[in-house]
Amino acid sequence: MQLTSILSVALCARFLACYIGFVICRWIYRLSPLHPLAKFPTPSRLACASQWYQFYWNAVRGGVYLFVIEKWHEELGPIVRVGPNELNINDPAFLNVVYSHKFERYGAFYNGLKGPVDSFMGAPAAEHRVRKRIFGPLFSVANIQNLEESMRYFIEKLANLVSTTGKNGQGVEISRLFGCFTTDVVSEYMFGRSFDCLETNLDSRPYESIMACKSFAWWIIWFSPIVHLFDLIPYRIVKTVAPKALVGITDLIDLSTEKTVEFTRDPVKARSMTKTDHPIVLDVLLGDPNSPYSRNPKWAIGDGIIAMAGAVETVGPTLIAGIYHACVNPLVQRKLHEELTLAFPGGTKMITAAECERLPYLVAFIKEVLRKSPPLITRIPRVAPKGGTTLGDVYIPEGTIVSMSSYLMHHKPEIYPKPHDFIPERWLATTPSSPEEKAWMPYSRGNRICAGIHFAHTELHMTFAFLFLRFKMKLHPENKLEDINAFVDMISRHGQRHLLVSVEDMEN
Ligand code: HEM
Repeated sequence: MQLTSILSVALCARFLACYIGFVICRWIYRLSPLHPLAKFPTPSRLACASQWYQFYWNAVRGGVYLFVIEKWHEELGPIVRVGPNELNINDPAFLNVVYSHKFERYGAFYNGLKGPVDSFMGAPAAEHRVRKRIFGPLFSVANIQNLEESMRYFIEKLANLVSTTGKNGQGVEISRLFGCFTTDVVSEYMFGRSFDCLETNLDSRPYESIMACKSFAWWIIWFSPIVHLFDLIPYRIVKTVAPKALVGITDLIDLSTEKTVEFTRDPVKARSMTKTDHPIVLDVLLGDPNSPYSRNPKWAIGDGIIAMAGAVETVGPTLIAGIYHACVNPLVQRKLHEELTLAFPGGTKMITAAECERLPYLVAFIKEVLRKSPPLITRIPRVAPKGGTTLGDVYIPEGTIVSMSSYLMHHKPEIYPKPHDFIPERWLATTPSSPEEKAWMPYSRGNRICAGIHFAHTELHMTFAFLFLRFKMKLHPENKLEDINAFVDMISRHGQRHLLVSVEDMEN
C-alpha cells in the first residue's frame, strides 16, 4: 500500500516536471528567432512568452490590456505582437481584409463568449452559414421597418417615465430606464412577449444580470472549459445555485425556452397568444417544421438569448453615452433640438425613422457617439488562412490570430483630429470614401458583421430624436464621477453605468 502511494507520488512528480519542462521549452521557442512572429515588434517579452500576461491585464487588473496596446501602437506602429500567437493591427487599410471571409473567427474566443449557450455566434463557419441564412433576413431593413410602431410604443413609455421621475428637479437614473427599455423592445420582437420591464416598476433584472456577467467576462472566457461543464449539470440545479445577480439571465433562459417549446408544439396557438401585429423572430425560425431550427430547437433558444444580450448590452450603453455627451456639450444638445424642432414642428407624434435618418446633425451625432464610445471595444480576433497571407507587403503566417479594435481605430489622431473630443461636426461633410468612414467600425465588418445593425440604427435614431425634441437634459449633481468616467474593456465597454440626469420637459 505504502509502495503504491510512493509510486503514485513519484509518477505525479514526473508528470509535473515534464509539464514544467514543456512550458519552459515553449516559452523559449516563443521568444526565439525561430518563432514565425519573431520579426514583429513588441515591447514586452512576457506578452510573447505567455497568454497569462493578457490574463493579468484583463482579468486581474480589470480590462485594461487594450490601453496598454494603445501605447505600444503609438511607439511601434500599426502592427504589434500582443500575444504568443497574436498580432494587433491598427490600420484601416487592412480592415476589410481581416474581416473578409478569408479569415475565420478565432473559435476559442467566441466559444468562451457564448458560455454554455448554443448560439450561432460560436458556431463553426458551415453551421453559422445555415443559421444566419434564416436568422439574418429577420433583421433586414424591410423587416425592421415593420417594427417602427412597436418601437414608438416603448419610446413613448420611456419618455413619459423620464418626465414623471424627473419632476421637481429629481435626478432620473437614465441608465436604468435604458436598460429596461432596450430589454422590452428586443424581447417583444424575439418572443412576441415583452419582459415589460418599463411597466413592472422598472424591473431591470435582465439588463442588470447582463451587466453583472460583463464584470467577469474575461474570467468566463479564460476558464470557458469549466463554464462549459455547466452543460453537464441539470439546469434546475444551476438555477438554484446561481448567484442572485444572475437571476435576470435565468429569467432570459426561461423565457426563451418556454417560448421555443410553445412555438415548436403548436405554432398557430403560440402565435395567437402574442399581442403583436408584426412577424416575430421565433415564429419565423420555428414556423416551418422542416427548417433546421425546428429540427434543433436548442438553436432557437440559444439565438434568442444571444440576440437579446447582443441588443441590450450595446444599444443601452450607446444611449447612455449619447445622453452623457449631449449633457457635457450643451451646444451639441441645442443644435439637435433645433434641427428636430424644424423637422417635426408638430412634436414627437410626427417622428418617423425614415425622416430621422435624413437629419444631418442627428446622423452625425449618432456616428460620433459610436466613434467615441463604441459599445464593443475589445480586440475582435480572426485567424490567418491556410498558407498565410499578406497585409500590404507584410507576410502573416498561417494560423496567426489577427485582431483589431474599434476603440483603437476610432482614436487615431491622423484620421480623427482631437480624437478624445466629442465633435459631431466631423461627420457633416464625409462621403463613403472619406478616411473617417473607412475607419469607422462599431459594428465590425465583413460577413460576420453585427446581425442587428438595422435594428440598432432605427432604435437609436428614433429614441434620440424623441428625447432631444422633448427634453432639455443636464448632468445631475449627485452623479458619481467614478460611475461616469470609468471606461474599461470587458469585451464591451464597461463604464458610464449609472447616469443621473436632470430633465426639463418642454412638452409640459
Ligand atoms: C449599437 C448597437 C450595436 C453594436 C455597436 C453592435 C456591434 C456588434 C459587433 C462589433 C459584433 C461582433 C461582430 C464580429 O464578431 O465580427 C456584433 C455581433 C452581433 N450582434 Fe450586434 N451590435 C449592436 C446591436 C445589436 C442588436 C440590436 C442586435 C439584435 C437585435 C445585435 C445582434 C448581434 C448578433 C446576433 C451578433 C452575432 C453575429 C454573428 O455571429 O454573425 N447587435 N454586434
